[in-house]
Amino acid sequence: MKRIRGQTISFSGDGDTVTHHEAGLVVINDEGRIVWVGDFSDCPLAYRMLPIDDHGKKLVLPGFVDAHIHFPQHRLLAAPGKDLLDWLQRFTFPEEARYGDEAYAAAAAEIFLDHLAAHGTTSALAFCSVHKACATALFEAAEKRGMALITGKTMMDRNAIPAVHDVAEQSAIDTADLHNTWHGKGRLRHAITPRFAITSSDAQLSYAEELLRALKGALLQTHISESAGEIAYVAELFPWSKDYTDVYDRFGLLSERSLFAHGIHLNAREVARFAESKSSVVHCPTSNTFLGSGLMSMMALKDVSLGLATDIGGGTSYSMLATMGEAYKVQMLNGYKPTAMQLFAMATIGNAARLHLDDEIGSFVVGKYADLVVLDPEATPVLKHRNALSQSLEDQLFALMILGDDRAVAATYIAGKKVHDNRSA
Ligand code: GUN
Ligand code: ZN
Repeated sequence: MKRIRGQTISFSGDGDTVTHHEAGLVVINDEGRIVWVGDFSDCPLAYRMLPIDDHGKKLVLPGFVDAHIHFPQHRLLAAPGKDLLDWLQRFTFPEEARYGDEAYAAAAAEIFLDHLAAHGTTSALAFCSVHKACATALFEAAEKRGMALITGKTMMDRNAIPAVHDVAEQSAIDTADLHNTWHGKGRLRHAITPRFAITSSDAQLSYAEELLRALKGALLQTHISESAGEIAYVAELFPWSKDYTDVYDRFGLLSERSLFAHGIHLNAREVARFAESKSSVVHCPTSNTFLGSGLMSMMALKDVSLGLATDIGGGTSYSMLATMGEAYKVQMLNGYKPTAMQLFAMATIGNAARLHLDDEIGSFVVGKYADLVVLDPEATPVLKHRNALSQSLEDQLFALMILGDDRAVAATYIAGKKVHDNRSA
């Protein structure tokens, strides 16, 4: 068992409730679960001799959860596409084609998970490439690290490049195999992963529905309504559809276990269907500005369950701090001003709930896993001088999300075990 000391901060709901202990303490058992949390001075006698990691005035938060990220794009940041479809064809599909090679995928998985740890991200819902070997490599690497990671093999049987095409039946067989092998192993979970309507045939989308009904506990992840060119192509491929959402709806893919990245250009009917079906939309602001896709409006989707994500490699930073900062700017351009508390809540407990992991992670509650990030509000000279002006916790968090990135991550813990330390990085 061990103890971690610092300013503990944990959110619930939409950030309206914050539990803050200036001199806080988290006590963790050998399984990596929280057994006590509160003021250091109230630490029960039985725990007072336990070893301690003392982070002083630094902020100890639940680890960040990234609700949408692409593992095989881990080094594909900053690829200058003209728009989404051009970026996919010219840069993304050729890079993803390399992940059929087991050794390449296994080495990349370690680098990818190191990047997550260095940025304070302890859980993620990740896309893989089309190759089963790619998903296997990521599951294996995440299992070794004891992570609550969710992934699946991407299903895509048309309109990409042949090197990353599968076949509808085989994609369903591989997806079911991955579920049976990995779902519930350690802290891992599995997600059915049709890339988007453009790259799946009717037969493949029907298989995705069959799998969603059959594979107990699986999530479903895909993309929706990201760019104008994409929406026009979907309308051409599915001429019977009322709109983009109608395509997924007719194939039975809207559900409370389904997460759809982007959702920038949804019309009122589509938004209503999302709200009714309790499907989630995942906001990916650094990707949306980088690819010129548009400004997703959290206000327009206020009745929809929302997540927040980096969308690496369309996204430009692994940092959920930078992602919150960009979300703030995108919403400001839409005439809406989210609070720092609200965005930190989204990046922790909110995303945990979207991933159906909130009974295990996302806040400091006895019984949950001690997945933690330690943030240093004085990590850089600029942050240090800005922090001196901070008047409140909201203000301190606000400065961190606008100015912070991996440099502000002092340490990261998974199930109570330190997996990253900025001093030794
Ligand atoms: N839509 C379909 N595939 C992708 C992808 O890899 N990245 C992004 N941003 N959008 C997509
Ligand atoms: Zn994506």
